[in-house]
Amino acid sequence: MESIDRSLEPSAAEMRRLVEGALERIVAHLESLPAQPAADVAGAVELARSVREHLPEQGEAYEKLLALVFDRLAPKSFNTAGPGYLAYIPGGGLFESAVADLIGDAVNRYVGVWLAAPGLAQIEANVAQWLCEIVGYSGDARGYFTSGGSLANFGAVVTARRALLPENFLAGTIYTSDQAHHSVQKAATLAGFPARNVREVPSDERYRVRIGDLNRMIAEDRRSGLTPFMIVGNAGTTNTGAVDDLARLADIARDEGMWLHADAAYGGFFLLTERGRKTLQGIQRADSVTLDPHKGMFLPYGTGSLLVRDGAALRGAHGVDAHYLPTMPEAPDMVDFSQISPELSRPFRGLRVWLPVKLHGIGVFRSNLDEKLDLTLWATDQLRTIAGIEIVAEPQLTVVAFRLVRTGLSEDALNDLNRRLIKAINARQRIHLSGTTLGNRFVLRICVLSFRTHMDRMREGLEDIRMAVADLR
Ligand SMILES: Cc1ncc(COP(=O)(O)O)c(C=O)c1O
Repeated sequence: MESIDRSLEPSAAEMRRLVEGALERIVAHLESLPAQPAADVAGAVELARSVREHLPEQGEAYEKLLALVFDRLAPKSFNTAGPGYLAYIPGGGLFESAVADLIGDAVNRYVGVWLAAPGLAQIEANVAQWLCEIVGYSGDARGYFTSGGSLANFGAVVTARRALLPENFLAGTIYTSDQAHHSVQKAATLAGFPARNVREVPSDERYRVRIGDLNRMIAEDRRSGLTPFMIVGNAGTTNTGAVDDLARLADIARDEGMWLHADAAYGGFFLLTERGRKTLQGIQRADSVTLDPHKGMFLPYGTGSLLVRDGAALRGAHGVDAHYLPTMPEAPDMVDFSQISPELSRPFRGLRVWLPVKLHGIGVFRSNLDEKLDLTLWATDQLRTIAGIEIVAEPQLTVVAFRLVRTGLSEDALNDLNRRLIKAINARQRIHLSGTTLGNRFVLRICVLSFRTHMDRMREGLEDIRMAVADLR
């Protein structure tokens, strides 16, 4: 008999060597985050090309592989975990969640059906219920974890479609503002709707959906024989953090027999704060909500969630049986995630939310989010003191959009000026901003959401903006 190759079964000493080797690198990396550039991708494409390779037959030394990741590849990137990352939607990536992933992956119990690991599956069910509590849902609500907000929005469209439309659903139309995240359009397309079935409702001067236009578009579509069935409200847009009037959207959905989904991927966790609860009022009346722990709960990338007010609708959309699945004992109090979500085998996502919350309690998340609300207001006040800066979107949560204006310049020239401004700010490498287009205006945005971002970095960032404006001729 050939000898058995046990290389994939490390000894206790080897396991320790692997984890300790990684840990040493990780700790050094995380400790140096504030000193790392906010983004550095000079030469990164060439570097990426240089590591292309064919399937290797032989292994290499662990230290060499760690060195490749930590010394060569990771430094040539946006520092998305660092305090200066104020672009797109940051989060930071809690170390506690990374530890939870190590535990979850190493233990590798099966949480796709609760019978295989009832206690662990219950942890995930608890965490989903906590998120429902944050939204203000009752005990009938259910939720599941996804890899991110895009797939949560997809789950919402499928669940609404299955709840409200016949099998031939192509007359169904969806309404969302021109500020919605593009994942809403993508979700509708993936769920089988032609792109034209998604109606783009204009937004107002605060980038919130125009209710009058929404009502008019729904009425027009009904008159032409279509079936308006879903409204996607924004609970914190990516562009400006704008929050639609969710209570009025809930009234319309109720009166029209439609499904209201709130995309709170970015904004939802501000419900933990008093100010956020005011801004997001009405969200608990939505039929479903997307909440992304990898944004407002600061988790590493890879965790979104879809919460549905009437949990039975999730089962209605996803429940299927198969002969090879275990016969589940009658236990209506247990949550069977395989019957309320698209996945069967999947990672234990609940643990990466559970560990930091259980270790710290929810209070630290609340105080961090309150701090980010304050920092955004502070930054906005500072921006106002810079000659030529115009606040294009006042913060509703933790995004402020602004641009530099100079008299006598055309819109095109102004856009060009602001593109140069963002380049100049980012070139200083202490903060990293991203831009967007509002109407036909290119604007810069500051999004404060990483748990590692505090006043010291904000001061540096504002200093850089001030100097970049002064330098631009
Ligand atoms: C409002 C909003 N919805 C949905 C998404 C998509 O989330 P993800 O990138 O996790 O798929 C984002 C991402 O930034 C977002 O800001």
